[in-house]
Amino acid sequence: MALKISVIGTGYLGATHAACMSSLGFEVVGVDVDTSKITSLNAGKIPFYEPGLEELLAQEVQSGRLTFSSDFNAIKDCDVHFICVGTPQVKDGLAADLTYVNGALDSIAKIIKDGSLVVGKSTVPVGTAAALRERLLKINPKLDLAWNPEFLREGFAVEDTLKPNRLVVGVANSKAEETLKQVYAKSLSEQTPWVVADLPTSELVKVAANSFLATKISFINAMAEICEAAGGDVTVLAKAIGYDPRIGNKFLQAGIGFGGGCLPKDIRAFMARAQELGAEQAVEFLREIDSINMRARARVIELVRKDLSDDLRGKKIAVLGAAFKPDSDDVRDSPALDIAVQIQAAGANVIVHDPKAMPNAQKKFPVLKFADSIEKCVEGAELVLHLTEWKIYREINPAALIKLVKNPILIDGRNALDRSEWQKAGWHVRALGRSDTAI
Ligand code: UGA
Repeated sequence: MALKISVIGTGYLGATHAACMSSLGFEVVGVDVDTSKITSLNAGKIPFYEPGLEELLAQEVQSGRLTFSSDFNAIKDCDVHFICVGTPQVKDGLAADLTYVNGALDSIAKIIKDGSLVVGKSTVPVGTAAALRERLLKINPKLDLAWNPEFLREGFAVEDTLKPNRLVVGVANSKAEETLKQVYAKSLSEQTPWVVADLPTSELVKVAANSFLATKISFINAMAEICEAAGGDVTVLAKAIGYDPRIGNKFLQAGIGFGGGCLPKDIRAFMARAQELGAEQAVEFLREIDSINMRARARVIELVRKDLSDDLRGKKIAVLGAAFKPDSDDVRDSPALDIAVQIQAAGANVIVHDPKAMPNAQKKFPVLKFADSIEKCVEGAELVLHLTEWKIYREINPAALIKLVKNPILIDGRNALDRSEWQKAGWHVRALGRSDTAI
């Protein structure tokens, strides 16, 4: 008989997982304590921007296979329960806040039927899964818990869920593995690598992967600093080292660095957990990764000061981009927004544009000013800052835009615009790690 699946927590991860599991033919119930989220999801609407997800969700809700409820009893007869709640950074430290994960387990432990499997997907400090499993088995020894970390990227959430580059399952016994094999039968039939691990290793795979990605980005941003000092060009350097397949050319885009709801908080939580384990020295380098990353934001502001003046008061600065990356309306720890706010705090007259993230940015920083078109944003600007590499910004006609600004100065914080085209149109172009573009 086909498995019935529940998803606890219907945020970014949960909503995506629920819609994707339903699209594979499973009956899926998503539960959340947030009733407004549930109402919106049942109407086939997602409260955030993710390409392709809303269409898929609406189609699955329509099919009748996918339902959402704020009543946890709705998951009673499900066989597999995916915990997809958030683990944000605690307010007063670096560690991850496990309140929601613990809460989710407590809410379901006494409700779910014997023989069912709880599967954690949230990113958690190593050791959490084993502790949760012990707690669950104490409540009902006929249940089991496995861990199945999620590697989806915002902007590619559906694709990454339905066609993952690997599936990792942390299990305490083979029955759990068999159940998960049924859930992921389609991916397995497509030869997706299947990695079976113990619980701690499966938790570590996730934080190790995010730490590696963060390290790659900070590495290239450190090289950008050296290129600036030595008169080199980091984009050429990245291209050249990327041809070595052992290095690879992905995640070597130098610029204002990483943000979002995952990489920054995950490396910090990893450091905090390593310290608890007495192994802090092993990940001490992540502190440096974090500082290089935060320094990239400060270095862009330095460039702005160099190009305009130390005193930014009253200077009109156009900021293109507020999301932490393109194809997302997420502004959590967004480098772009952070820079915009810092420049504004220094007295500049900042106008921000973003194709999707303006409502979230406005909610978070009501002091910022926003423009609903690129043209309005740059009108009379003394400097244009390109901070999130949306496709629409790459498609800008620099010859047309130059007519609207006061000074034709562009700082490309993402090294993503066609520098020679902008220069040809008369712009002074500056970017991190490319000292030859100095004015
Ligand atoms: C990241 C991981 O890539 C996913 O595999 C993981 O599942 C997810 O976190 C998570 O833990 O849930 P995501 O936060 O969506 O995914 O964003 P990324 O695509 O990793 O980008 C992170 C940040 O790095 C963005 O701010 C991006 O602009 C920046 N970045 C990326 C660079 O500055 N340079 C690059 O070359 C690549």
